[in-house]
Amino acid sequence: MPLTLTDHDRALLSGEHGPAARMAMSIIVRMAEVFGAERLLNIQGAHIDSALYMGDATLEFAERLASLGARVVVPTSLNVSGVDERGWREWAVPPDWAEKARRQMAAYQGMGCAPTWTCTPYQTGFKPRPGQQIAWGESNAIAFANSVIGARTERYPDLLDICAAITGRVPAVGLHLKENRAATLLLRLVDVPHELQADDSFYPVLGHLMGKLAGEGKPAVLGLQAAPGEDQLKTLCAAAASSGSVGLFHLVGITPEAPTLQAAFQGREPEQTIDVTLDMLRAARRELTSAAGQALDMVALGCPHFSLAEFRRLAPLLQGRRRHPQVRFLVTTNRAMAARAEQAGLLEPLRRFGGQVTLDTCILTTPMLPPEVKVLMTHSAKYAYYAPGLLSTQVVFGELEDCVRSAVEGRVMRDESLWGT
Ligand code: F3S
Repeated sequence: MPLTLTDHDRALLSGEHGPAARMAMSIIVRMAEVFGAERLLNIQGAHIDSALYMGDATLEFAERLASLGARVVVPTSLNVSGVDERGWREWAVPPDWAEKARRQMAAYQGMGCAPTWTCTPYQTGFKPRPGQQIAWGESNAIAFANSVIGARTERYPDLLDICAAITGRVPAVGLHLKENRAATLLLRLVDVPHELQADDSFYPVLGHLMGKLAGEGKPAVLGLQAAPGEDQLKTLCAAAASSGSVGLFHLVGITPEAPTLQAAFQGREPEQTIDVTLDMLRAARRELTSAAGQALDMVALGCPHFSLAEFRRLAPLLQGRRRHPQVRFLVTTNRAMAARAEQAGLLEPLRRFGGQVTLDTCILTTPMLPPEVKVLMTHSAKYAYYAPGLLSTQVVFGELEDCVRSAVEGRVMRDESLWGT
């Protein structure tokens, strides 16, 4: 069936709503044809990854759209930026990069996007409702929106996300459609102790393994006895969307579209069933560490961006302690969350510890790390997965407590007892 456009779609395409809307609509229509969509559908919100400065091409695209008078027509949040506008001078960010990244930020704000500057829009007031159609960029946020909230978004790449926000229209394909949201792969947790399932460190590891096993598939997880909290689910999403291309998963009995196994698969049979054992999880956890020995240069937390609850958990661990002078200690978050943490008195212990906070961006999206940072410790599977390739650092993956202890001692310290190793 060829693509059918509404009168409004045709008006956008013919330039009746201005040159920016015409350009955005022509891109949406072209993508719809590539995907074989029969129609477009309305979205109720967007989350834009395109505002991240990645070179002259992304800046040029942003400023061209802005100069054509682009305006978003749905509530639109912004993913991380290419620079911490206030704190970049404390790090190795080149001034030229900072200036161009700032210009790109301004261009998107000028289009009417909210300056959320975060990869966790769902924790900063841009949480869609279950069933809502949205167009989100940023892999962890996409997985969270689909799997935890039950909203519906495809995995929007940069540039297409802003075109969706400007037109309010997207191709009716993929995860926007109920029939495409059924699980395809069954993962059965078979011998994972409840104590481990309840621990924060379990979720990034499960996510890392899930991503590797699922690839582009839609896994359903059976056998989870714990009731994971929002931050645990956040780390699960980030990890699964890093080691794999998971845009939607179902935790049977927990996530909205999976009250039962049958519901997760929409009555179909799994294409594949895999028993996930403790040994497989241990192996996945080992993979997240690339460094050998105890040398340590930096601890990086906050991927995805740290939440207020995570600041609350961190603060008592820092109390009365001080980082080793040779180990930098960084938390990445967004400006709104940092303001809330400040108000709650949760940043002062971090400052006294000798830690730093980087706002609105992260170590993977701004060139902030000095070359002397060679070994990085983190409790984030996403940082651990990408840092060796993107930052050329070696990584140690460890629990939050171990990250703090290691920063104090100046060398890697890990308590492996929960994992039985
Ligand atoms: Fe967010 Fe950067 Fe991690 S964008 S998900 S903190 S890699």
